[in-house]
Amino acid sequence: MCGIVGYIGQVDAKEILLKGLEKLEYRGYDSAGIAVMNEAGVHVFKEVGRIANLRGAVDESVEATAGIGHTRWATHGVPNQSNAHPHQSASGRFTLVHNGVIENYHLLQQEYLQNVTMKSDTDTEVIVQLVEHFANEGLSTDEAFRKTLSLLHGSYALGLLDEQDAETIYVAKNKSPLLVGVGDTFNVIASDAMAMLQVTDQFVELHDEEVVIVKAASVSIEKLDGTKVERAPYTAQLDMSDIEKGTYPHYMLKEIDEQPGVIRKIVSAYTVEDELTIDADIKAALSEADRLYIIAAGTSYHAGLVGKQYFEKMAKIPVEVHIASEFGYNMPLLSEKPLFIFISQSGETADSRQVLVKVKELGYKALTITNVQGSTLSREADYTLLLHAGPEIAVASTKAYVAQVAVLAITAYVEGKSKGLDIDFDLKAELGVAANAIQTIIDKKEEIQQVADAVLATTRNAFFIGRGIDYCVSMEGALKLKEISYIQAEGFAGGELKHGTIALIEEGTPVFALASQKAMSLNVRGNMKEVVARGANPIIISMEGMEEADDSMVLPAVQELLTPLVTVIPLQLISYYAALYRDCDVDKPRNLAKSVTVE
Ligand code: F6R
Repeated sequence: MCGIVGYIGQVDAKEILLKGLEKLEYRGYDSAGIAVMNEAGVHVFKEVGRIANLRGAVDESVEATAGIGHTRWATHGVPNQSNAHPHQSASGRFTLVHNGVIENYHLLQQEYLQNVTMKSDTDTEVIVQLVEHFANEGLSTDEAFRKTLSLLHGSYALGLLDEQDAETIYVAKNKSPLLVGVGDTFNVIASDAMAMLQVTDQFVELHDEEVVIVKAASVSIEKLDGTKVERAPYTAQLDMSDIEKGTYPHYMLKEIDEQPGVIRKIVSAYTVEDELTIDADIKAALSEADRLYIIAAGTSYHAGLVGKQYFEKMAKIPVEVHIASEFGYNMPLLSEKPLFIFISQSGETADSRQVLVKVKELGYKALTITNVQGSTLSREADYTLLLHAGPEIAVASTKAYVAQVAVLAITAYVEGKSKGLDIDFDLKAELGVAANAIQTIIDKKEEIQQVADAVLATTRNAFFIGRGIDYCVSMEGALKLKEISYIQAEGFAGGELKHGTIALIEEGTPVFALASQKAMSLNVRGNMKEVVARGANPIIISMEGMEEADDSMVLPAVQELLTPLVTVIPLQLISYYAALYRDCDVDKPRNLAKSVTVE
């Protein structure tokens, strides 16, 4: 989603801003812009499409040591140049970048800005016009900014320039992520530390409803009511190699290849004295709960479906898994002692966050499972379990899914063991086996490429079926394929196809089946016979020990509950190669954003 950067210091800001925006490209965007400010005023450059287009539009002769930049993922108004950020007030005095959605922008426009001619269709422009409106009434910029903030309903991360004060960036945030990065002779702002790792690894978290005055030599944080806030910087635990592609053609392929290492890292992070473990207070919260409510979106929701199987089978706790955007507004009848588990790679997903806010208001405890330490969902929950997957840059989630499944398995296993339940395998050893199995599959990726090229090159749709835990992975396989190759794809419970969807099967329609569960493998093979009889092109993915002659892929055997870690790998690779074959932008698929910070 939208990304923000800002710099104020001693050297020219343009390149720092542009490089910062390039590091935010992964979040998804459709236009980009920067504004730089010097004693002569503010200069705005913006373009539709990639940062490369923006680079071409920037006037190299303009030198300025302060500026703000933005990548926009359109919400209000189509992606065009006038809707791209930064936006300017009517006189051009104020310039603003905004991430988030202002729900009452139309009302504010009607109440305060009847006489202002708007230059864009965005909610953002209302903010910058309001600042000017209040400044024209005699308020200082600081006062006009605060007055404006007090009127906004919705989410925002903001960076504001006033051309009458070339030494300040005004910053504020509510619900949308924003960090201040600190340096010796400069300070920066960024939606994600990655954007400014080029100049500093020292960052200060900002909290909701804080206003920050950023100058080259100082950062002053206050709450909206004027109370001073002191907060020490932390060191971002990232290095540039984590966020570079290296020799890989795409981040997605790099991240797929990283998955065996991610599982090993998780095992090591959750091992104490040779035993898998989680914090005692999380164990206590799980033990007290009479039901778990897993809340998530997209791929993280699919990991949650696997997590349900783990908690019910290994820890004997009933679980409901809910799509975050549905749960908040259609809350089911809750059990007496619920524990909420939020699963989110980014830790910033607005749909999940709105549920967390409601859950906290109701006084319930929440655990967040996330890849991003210090993210909003982590800060606002009672407990956090980290994924240790390293930054995931490709929009399509791969290693974070595998990490989510592994952390859910560890959590359920540790809880089951601490309750004295009979779990007849050693999870630590089995996760090692699964990591090796993933490596074996990755080492044969050329074979998977051949399957993808053969069956997905020209098809307009595809189906993925499975039963039990394989059904959960089928849905993830379908999501991966549609999001990066734009092939219409659906995941179904094997037994459900014949209740309607089978009508879509035509001559040559690819149907992928996962057959990794002993008790259901024959049933799913039976379902495949039904679609083959109607012309489908079958691709059966099975496991050693359960294979049959015509199976397209036979994966190394792993503990039956851990098959989602392994069966998802060929599906990720199949999607990757289908997208490559179709010349799609693998890492930045159309219309998608990595961190979905609007509801
Ligand atoms: C799919 C994908 C999305 C995310 C979803 C939730 O590849 O990445 O479906 O899983 O937007 O995002 P997080 O996990 O950051 O809450």
